This record gives sequence, C-alpha cells and structure tokens, in this order.
Amino acid sequence: MTLWGGGFEERPSDLLWQFTVDRSDRRLLVDDIRGSLAHVAMLGAVGVLDEDETAGIATGLETLLAEAEAGEFVWSDGDEDVHTAVERRLTELIGDAAGKLHTGRSRNDQVCLDLRLYLRRAADERVVQIAELANVLAALAEEAGDTVVASYTHVQQAQPVPLAHHLLAYAWMLVRDRDRFRDAYARIDVSPLGAGASAGSRLPLDPHLTADSLGFRGAFANSMDAVGSRDFVAEYVFCCAQSMVTLSRLAEEMVLWATEEYGWVTYSDSFTTGSSAMPQKKNPDVAELARGKTATVIGDLNTLMTLQKGLPLTYNRDLQEDKRAVFHADDSLALALAAIGGMLESAVFHPPPPSSMVTALDLAEVLVERGIPFREAHEAVGGLVATLVAEGRKLADATAGELETAHVQLVPGDLAILTPEGSVEARATAGGGSMDSVRTQLTQLRAALR
Ligand code: ARG
Repeated sequence: MTLWGGGFEERPSDLLWQFTVDRSDRRLLVDDIRGSLAHVAMLGAVGVLDEDETAGIATGLETLLAEAEAGEFVWSDGDEDVHTAVERRLTELIGDAAGKLHTGRSRNDQVCLDLRLYLRRAADERVVQIAELANVLAALAEEAGDTVVASYTHVQQAQPVPLAHHLLAYAWMLVRDRDRFRDAYARIDVSPLGAGASAGSRLPLDPHLTADSLGFRGAFANSMDAVGSRDFVAEYVFCCAQSMVTLSRLAEEMVLWATEEYGWVTYSDSFTTGSSAMPQKKNPDVAELARGKTATVIGDLNTLMTLQKGLPLTYNRDLQEDKRAVFHADDSLALALAAIGGMLESAVFHPPPPSSMVTALDLAEVLVERGIPFREAHEAVGGLVATLVAEGRKLADATAGELETAHVQLVPGDLAILTPEGSVEARATAGGGSMDSVRTQLTQLRAALR
C-alpha cells in the first residue's frame, strides 16, 4: 500500500519499489505510533477532530502500540515505509476512521519526529554505557595500586607513571565522549511535528502542544528548517564516530599490551580467540574488531555529511539514507562499548618495570634545582645516557666518576632516588603522573560519573 496513489494511473514498477523502499525504518515503529498518538490528541485539542474521532483513532493506536511493543506487529511486503504500515494496520483495526490520522501532517515532519524520538533514547543509552566503561577503567586503576610503567611518546619509553594514570587517561576521554552525547541531545530534543510537508498548514495546528506532550524542550521555529535539516543526525553520528575513535585507540593499546614484547596484560580465554593454524595463539580479536569497526562508523559520518551538502530545501528523498548510517553507527558503538568493557574487565595486568633511562629527565631536573640552566642539564645528562646506552648499561650503573664527568654537580645519591618509583613519588605537577594525582583523579572521576 502507498499513501499517494490518487493521481497515478499506473502501478509502481517493481524496480521503483526495490529501489525506493528501505526497511531499515521499521525500527522506528514504536516512535511512529507514539508520535501519532500525540498528533491525534493535538488534532482533538484544537478542534480539527471531534471527540469521537479522536478517541477512536487513539484507541486504535493504543492497540497498535501494544502489538508493536510485544513484537507482534505484522508487516506486509506492500508497506512502503513504517508510516504507511501504521496507517494500513490502523485501517484494519478501525476502518475508514483511520483516514483522518494524517490530517495536518506529512511524512516529512513525521520521519524527522520519529528519528528524534529514537535518538533521544539512544543518546540516553550511550551516555549510560560510556560511563560504565569509564567505571571499568577506574576500577582497574584502583586495582593497579602503585604499579609503575613507562609512559610513551612516539612509542618510545618516556617518563615513569603509575599504571593507573595511563588507564585513567582513557577514562577522561570517555567522560568527554559521554558529555558530547548530552550536548547533542539538546539539539535532537526539538519537535518538528506540525511543520507538515514544508510550510505548516491552514488548519490551526499547535506544534507546541505536541512538543510538550512528547517531552521535547521545544518546537521548531521554521518549518522548512524542521523538515529539511539533518545536522542533528550528523552530530549524533559524530558523537558515535569520536567515541569509536577513543575505543579504537584504547583497542590498539589493548592489542599492544598483550604482545610478548610489551607483556603488560593477559585477557581471559573467554575474550580471546584461537588460531586455526598456530596452537599457541590467543588473539585479541575483540579489540581488533573495535578498531576495524571504527573505520565503518567514520564512513557513516562521511555519509551524513555528504548527504547534506548539495541538498536544496526542504525534504528530498536522499534523506532516507540517513537512517541506515545512523543506525549502523549507533549499533556499532553500543556493541563495541559492551565488548571492550567485557574484555577489559577480564584483564590481568603484570607490566614489566620500565627501562632505567625513563628517569633521565628527572636527573636533568635535579640539576635545574641546583641552579643549572635546563639546556646545560639536558646536554650533560644526554651525554651520560649516550655512553651508557652504547655500553648496554643502565642509568643506575653510572659510576661516581662518570656522573662527575657528565656534570660536576651530579653525585651517586641522585641515582639512588631516581628509580622509576622514586621519580613517580617525587612528581609534583597537579594532574601529573603521581599517586597523589591518581587519588585526586579517582575522586574527580567518581564525581563526574555520578
Ligand atoms: N522513508 C522516508 C524517509 O525515510 C519517509 C519520508 C518520505 N517522504 C516523502 N515525501 N516521500 O525519509
């Protein structure tokens, strides 16, 4: 069934049907019915429908809603889209009275409404899920205690830090990813219902009434903008893509950590996969797929941006493609958050101590504390490190003579305190890699996640 056959003399060709019908909107069923319930109540309140008509349609829609929520709604191959399916089923239930439901409405404002209702719920879910993953990281940070690892720049060992500090860096990234969904929510949370096809209606519709009854923070200010804009969808997909990018970076590290070369972590068997060929392998496929799926979600963002760029106002059928992209992006993120969370929860950390050279900067800073210009200190310690590295020795192996040669102000006692642990203990920067900072961060993070 179509909603537009009146002026047509031929039936739609099979090819037109194949090409234009996209069943991915079926997941908007419940939202479509809820939107219709609000619409019909508004039509009754402003007197466009009388009391009996309003009650008759609303009762039919309630029955339909129950069917949909119970998963018992029966689709027909002939339904052009979710909106048509609802009207078809309503007609089966209440007869010709269903013909008044679409009064003062177009599928253009309707589909936009459905998607906004759907994405409000999805955003709420992602906000909760992202916070859960941040909490997993916080718990791992707590478990890590005062274990020290190297921080890396350029994938080269840099300065020693508490393992907890490294893990919490991801938790903070996730807090911003979560907040981004909250920010996007505000722009999703505007009702387009009443905009009609493009310009509203001569009937006395009340867009604010439907906006209120559906819990929106407001209604559209311009009907053409309301039916023709999809920046709220693109922004949602950006939130998904950026969150996936965070997960992808974390996933990349989860892969590295589990290598024999890093030796930081072991994941439980239930979160690794085997090799069909090499019996010794336990592969971090979950992390690899999170990284891989990120590429496809970035593709969805590209779809949304490209979809909008050449579109004249107002609604154009191109916009139908927004749903595939946003559903794919959102589904991918939802699953990746859960899977990465499960894999991380199964992690047992056992990182080896960092190289002794990670305290080279501390040694230079000791000289700075004794009044030496940093440039001179850097040069002196750099020379010492070069000699030791060439001989395959550790920083702690430097003799009193070598220290004095490097700089007259250096003494063996400096090396005794400049272990990786000693370096972390002496770290003074707020928010830096010290246990004090980790404790503060955990408190701040718990507050942010509450
Ligand atoms: N399936 C369409 C979409 O997703 C619904 C709106 C159709 N509107 C129209 N004028 N053909 O965008």
